[in-house]
Amino acid sequence: MSVRIAPSILSADLDRLAEQVAQVVEGGAEWLHVDVMDGRFVPNLTFGAPIIRALRRVCERPLDVHLMVEQPEHYIAEFAEAGASVFTLHPEATTHVQRHLASIREHGMQAGLALNPGTPLAFLEEVVDDVDLVLVMSVNPGYGGQRYLASATEKIRRVRALLDARGSAAALEVDGGITSETIRQAWEAGADTFVAGTAVFGQPHPADAVRALKKACLIRT
Ligand code: DX5
Ligand code: ZN
Repeated sequence: MSVRIAPSILSADLDRLAEQVAQVVEGGAEWLHVDVMDGRFVPNLTFGAPIIRALRRVCERPLDVHLMVEQPEHYIAEFAEAGASVFTLHPEATTHVQRHLASIREHGMQAGLALNPGTPLAFLEEVVDDVDLVLVMSVNPGYGGQRYLASATEKIRRVRALLDARGSAAALEVDGGITSETIRQAWEAGADTFVAGTAVFGQPHPADAVRALKKACLIRT
């Protein structure tokens, strides 16, 4: 199983974003994670299309955009045009989830479904053929720097079993509280893509931090 690291720019120094992005790419980060928050679905406010456009100009890696917003469907066309590669929505934030997942694909992006700690897998079961990525939240979204919830590990295992049983090749991503200590259990449970904010950009050497996360999975114990 491969290990894909998606550093979250939520924890980056925005006054030198291009430099920070270059550092994590040098460390081997495969994707960049962009946390979009609207002050309603979650309390915080963060980024929109202008940041996606700017990242697209300075980086060739896929942009993994995580929408913690009400009615995310309003941003599908705009974010596709801005250069988003993966567009992940929360099912509680909208009514016609299946229609919007199909629309994300029609706009040339990968469709992601995010499951909060309190959100059951039943949401995924209904739309498994419509998703290219499942995002298991290992914190309640809204802020960087929270602690990994141990219950996420078992949920990752259940999502992996469901994807395998349904013959889905969707990516299985985990987001929140990922460190060199917690990443290993998420990886062993079947996750392949790891969002990390504090554990990468909160460190003095982001490139080394990306390498350390990969090593924590791949090292033999
Ligand atoms: C949380 C966001 C995360 C966040 C992760 O609401 O979805 O992507 O940036 O930050 P860390 O890795 O610091 O928990
Ligand atoms: Zn996120």
